[in-house]
Amino acid sequence: MSGTVLVTGGAGYVGSHTAKALAAAGYRAITLDNLSRGFAHAVQWGPLERGDILDRDFLDAVMTRWRPQAVLHFAALAYVGESVSDPARYWRNNVVGSLTLLEAMRDHGVGRIVFSSTCATYGLPVRLPLAEDHPQAPISPYGATKLAVERMLADLDPAHGLRSVALRYFNAAGADPAGELGENHEPETHLIPLAIGAALGTAPRLKIFGTDYPTADGTCIRDYIHVTDLAAAHVAALGYLEAGGASTACNLGTGAGLSVRQIVTEVANVAGRPVPADEGPRRAGDPPELVADPARARQLLGWTPRCSDVASVISTAYAWSTRQRLRNAP
Ligand code: UFG
Repeated sequence: MSGTVLVTGGAGYVGSHTAKALAAAGYRAITLDNLSRGFAHAVQWGPLERGDILDRDFLDAVMTRWRPQAVLHFAALAYVGESVSDPARYWRNNVVGSLTLLEAMRDHGVGRIVFSSTCATYGLPVRLPLAEDHPQAPISPYGATKLAVERMLADLDPAHGLRSVALRYFNAAGADPAGELGENHEPETHLIPLAIGAALGTAPRLKIFGTDYPTADGTCIRDYIHVTDLAAAHVAALGYLEAGGASTACNLGTGAGLSVRQIVTEVANVAGRPVPADEGPRRAGDPPELVADPARARQLLGWTPRCSDVASVISTAYAWSTRQRLRNAP
C-alpha cells in the first residue's frame, strides 16, 4: 500500500497511534492538528500541518500542497461532560469543522474518508451487544455531534461520490506496545489512566462512580479496545475504501465487557500495589453496560482485535504512565 493520506487530529491519542500504523503500512501520513488537545511530540511519522479544520483557507492550502488520496478524520472535542456544559463549542468544532473539511474534500476531489465515530451515538442500549443497526439516540451533545457527521457522510456519498467508513469506537485504552506513544489527556477523565495514577500516587484516590448498577458486581461494564487495534482498524478501513468498498459504519470493540471493579483489580495486579479508591454515586449519563457486536468489522474489514485482552491493555497503559512519571520527575 502507498500514497498520501491526511490525518486530522493526528497529534491526539488515537490519531497518533494510527499515523504510526499508516507509516508502517507504507502510507505517507500528513498530520493536520491545531494542537489544542494534541501534542507536537506525538507526530513522529510524517509532517505536521498546524491549523484548524474550521479554517477553509488552511484546508485548501494543505490539500493543494499534499494532494491526499484520502482523509482519516480524528480531529474533534471528545469529553462527554464538557459537551454537556459547553454544547455550542462541540457543535462548532465537531460538526461545522467536519462540514468545512468535507466541503474542502469535495472541492479538491478527495473521495474517501475514515471517520472517528463513537458508541456514544447509540445512547442507552435497548439490546446488547450493540450492533450497527441498533437505534442511534445519543444522550449527550458529544454523541449527537458525532451522529450529525455520520448523517452528513450518508448524504455526501450519493451526491458527490465521497465514500466513507464511520468507525464507532467503544472504550479506547492502552498504549503503543513499543512505548513511543500513549494516552495524555488534560484533564484526564478516563478510568484506566486515573486508576493507574491512583496506584502510582500521581493522581488522587480513584472515585468509583456507582456500585448499584444492575450488573454482576454493581459497577458499569465497558468494552475496552486497545488503541493499537483501533489503529489497525483504520488502516483496514482505508484499504477497504481503496478496494472500492461501499460506505458503511463499523463498531470497534471486542464483544466482551469488563466492569470498573475488574479494571481496578487488573491495575492493582499489574502495578503490584493496591489502587486507593472510594465508592461514590453514579456519574450522570453513564449507561450500565456498553458492549459491541464487532462482527461487521470482522466481515467487511477483516479486522479482529489482537492486543485488547485486559492484561495487554493495562500493562501497556501502565508502562506508558511510569515512563511519563520518570520524564516528569524533577
Ligand atoms: N469511571 C469511574 N471513575 C472515574 C472515571 C470513570 O468509576 O474516575 C467509570 C465510569 O463511570 C464508566 C467507566 O469507568 O463506567 C469508564 O469511564 P470512562 O470515563 O473511562 O469512559 P466512558 O465509558 O465514560 O467514555 C467512553 C469514551 C467516550 C464515549 C463514551 C460513550 O471515552 O468518548 O465512552 O459512553 F463517548
